[in-house]
Amino acid sequence: MNIAIASDHAGVAHKKALVEFVESMGHHVDDLGPYTIDSVDYPNYAHKLSEKIKNNEAELGILLCGTGNGVAMTANKHNGIRAGLAWNKEVAALIRQHNDANILVMPARFTSIEEAKEITKTYLETPFEGGRHQRRIDMITIL
Ligand code: RB5
Repeated sequence: MNIAIASDHAGVAHKKALVEFVESMGHHVDDLGPYTIDSVDYPNYAHKLSEKIKNNEAELGILLCGTGNGVAMTANKHNGIRAGLAWNKEVAALIRQHNDANILVMPARFTSIEEAKEITKTYLETPFEGGRHQRRIDMITIL
């Protein structure tokens, strides 16, 4: 799969470890930055990654910031984006099974790098359940 990943300064260390981890799972990873821990504005990175997904340049995305909320709020402003915040592997499975999340969001300041790897692995390996969940997803968009 083609996976895009981005963060803000709070998520740079997690992102670096996750790029290597996701590539070791056999996926292609597009790292959209940032590449240093200099302070940046998270909306810029969340918008950039959301556009990649909408343009079918990546199938799934991974976003990180301190709490995960800033990037999730930003990404979810885009039609067709379903960014789900996951802080453990149970939630990671559910954002795929029930919400068909096309972006996994993690709180870098509240999950260890090892936890983030476990969450990411679960997210990438869990399929969408469809059925009643598809009906509910179809009800999310406001035109
Ligand atoms: C940056 O200090 C912090 O505000 C950001 O990483 C994120 O938590 C915002 O939601």
